[in-house]
Amino acid sequence: MPVTPLDDHQWAITTPASTYVIAVEIDPLTGEATPRQKYWGPRLPAEAARQVAASGARRHVSSFSTPAEVEELLPVDGGTRWSAPSLQVAFGHVRSLEPSFAGASVHDEGDGAQRLDLLLVDAHHPFEIVLSVRVRDDTDVIERWTTVRHRSDAEVTVTRLDSGNWFVPDAASYRYSGVFGAWAEELQLQRGPLPVGELVFTSRQGVTSHTANPWVMIDDGAATEEHGEVWGVALAWSGSWRLTTTHRPEGGVCVSGGFGHDGLRWTLAPGEELVSPAALGLYSAGGFGAASRSWHEYARRHVLPTAREERPVLYNSWEATTFAVTEAHQLELAKIAAGLGVELFVIDDGWFGGRDDDTTSLGDWWPHRERFPDGLRRLLDGIRDTGMRVGLWVEPECVSRDSDLYRAHPDWALHMTHRRRDEKRGQLVLNFARDDVRDWAFGWLDRLVTELDLDYFKWDMNRPFTQAGWPEREAEQDRVWIEHTRNVYRVMDLLRERHPRLRIESCSGGGGRIDFGIMRRTDEVWPSDNTDARDRQTVQHGFSQLYPAGTMSAWVTDSPNPTTRRAMPLRYRFHVAMAGVLGIGGNLPEWTSGELAEAAELIAQYKEIRPVVQHGRQYRLAGTPGQERSAVQYVLDDRVVVLVYNPLGNAKRGPRHLRLTGLDPDALYEMTGDGSRWHGSVLMSAGIRPAAWEPIGADHRSELVVFRKVRTSVAEPVP
Ligand code: DGJ
Repeated sequence: MPVTPLDDHQWAITTPASTYVIAVEIDPLTGEATPRQKYWGPRLPAEAARQVAASGARRHVSSFSTPAEVEELLPVDGGTRWSAPSLQVAFGHVRSLEPSFAGASVHDEGDGAQRLDLLLVDAHHPFEIVLSVRVRDDTDVIERWTTVRHRSDAEVTVTRLDSGNWFVPDAASYRYSGVFGAWAEELQLQRGPLPVGELVFTSRQGVTSHTANPWVMIDDGAATEEHGEVWGVALAWSGSWRLTTTHRPEGGVCVSGGFGHDGLRWTLAPGEELVSPAALGLYSAGGFGAASRSWHEYARRHVLPTAREERPVLYNSWEATTFAVTEAHQLELAKIAAGLGVELFVIDDGWFGGRDDDTTSLGDWWPHRERFPDGLRRLLDGIRDTGMRVGLWVEPECVSRDSDLYRAHPDWALHMTHRRRDEKRGQLVLNFARDDVRDWAFGWLDRLVTELDLDYFKWDMNRPFTQAGWPEREAEQDRVWIEHTRNVYRVMDLLRERHPRLRIESCSGGGGRIDFGIMRRTDEVWPSDNTDARDRQTVQHGFSQLYPAGTMSAWVTDSPNPTTRRAMPLRYRFHVAMAGVLGIGGNLPEWTSGELAEAAELIAQYKEIRPVVQHGRQYRLAGTPGQERSAVQYVLDDRVVVLVYNPLGNAKRGPRHLRLTGLDPDALYEMTGDGSRWHGSVLMSAGIRPAAWEPIGADHRSELVVFRKVRTSVAEPVP
């Protein structure tokens, strides 16, 4: 039973490798009954869980303060609490809550999932809070979310609604891990001592953002890639968000997260309820590597809509043509791409309206009248004739001022009374929270798929919100920050329902919308517009901390790279892209016949290793990716794939051998190519020495090493 009732109002939440204990405790000062987190760590037997549930309050008490919020599942703004509230509500002008536990229920959700709902009610107002905890029998990730319900006639305003507040057990010191970034430099891993105080990762942009990604991991400073305890919290949401990690002066750390950012106000009508997105918590005892693998497995089992499929090798025309999309050029690219073994051809920005540059036509979603006077059908049929599937780039959430859509519906863009409408990339954001805008978007997207028989959308979103108002809704206009994202989800969900064959890629000016919320309705995500293979390694390293390689779109583009001007061998560029979902984005007519032949060979190799990379367990081996020698390994059943990178010609420092991991020490593995056979224990303890790992050689050496397990026990005779 994943949810086990212990004594009165105490529950043990059990995952395969962890336990999370909740107990309702009465505050001696106020009499409030509050659900608290009593334990989160390695799995405990029921008796031990009972002990921690009954252990007294571990709160710090001084003559000056007795903070009630410590260990509370959802500390509110009100009473003897002084840290960042997870729930903040005002009744008229009274900005305070006094909730108390009023009941619990356990629900069987099928497929090994159970949900615990804890109900709290305010002492005076008929205002209800439901704290939900979902646990499954095949993952250590616990999902939590909060529902608030307003049952009176009073005016109620919510200014903070977090999905959950998670406590990390006591330690002598703490360290945080997270990612920061910018356009063309997304998902940069940062790891450092957690200062006493509040550390906020947030997006105020209306999208997940390039600047931070909604997750944080905490350890005691000693965890490594392979060892140590790690606690992680992630948020499944693709709009604005905030994750606050609090390190209390008297010790103790908690992480509270939810949608929206500081300053927003959501007014609830009588009877209305507001449900937060899920916050996900993971405890892992095997270091950062095992934590990442648990997140990946959770994503494959419970988030991604098509995790069992193999993602096709795609070609995308953006870097080759930018806005200059013409039938002849696209067909020329398609023929070469198909000859290389590409399986899906995506026509990027520039096929619609009068879209000759980024100042015009977003919103006018019909074929470009000068370039495609007879429509897109002939081009798409031509591409399909090469044997490839076909996709189109779209940006449904934005509008150009220079568009028929904006001329007809200027009120559809986000705007505020007496305020400017600031453009970014020459465009405005549509108010997707409006039902008419949502229905309009669904209408033309649905028509495009139906009429053109499309296989794929690349759904882009190229700017943050500004002047995010909704004058017609006045007091409720901050709902934009929630309903916009929900309607994006609804349109994607409905498209998938109506067109089961359709696959969707999430993109937001590169990696501005990568999270477990968007991943629930997309098949792959675009991590960065920076396709320089060295820079990309750093991005991919950050990506892999939470998200699986089978969702990570990765293209091979031209050399020198159009963004960084750095030249790199084709093989290195391929080997970096082969660590995710391989795509090609170069200007193929300019590749030499030698390069095309090598590309075809590498694509064929990728198809061989694709199931292992896209569905296997991922291990980050030695070295900082992109900066020094590094390697990444994938294991699926009896197959092992290692991609080895050495960007530096002279790299004498560091280990001489590359040690593999995650293998069966007693098994025998055969290396593809030379047929040499190795004990698993040798591969893991002594390691291998691929040519690309040698300290001296050319810059940018790389190698693909593949093993297959041929004997499960070395005790068996070797033929
Ligand atoms: C930003 C994306 O990240 C690019 O790949 C490309 O699709 C452009 N937008 C098109 O405008």
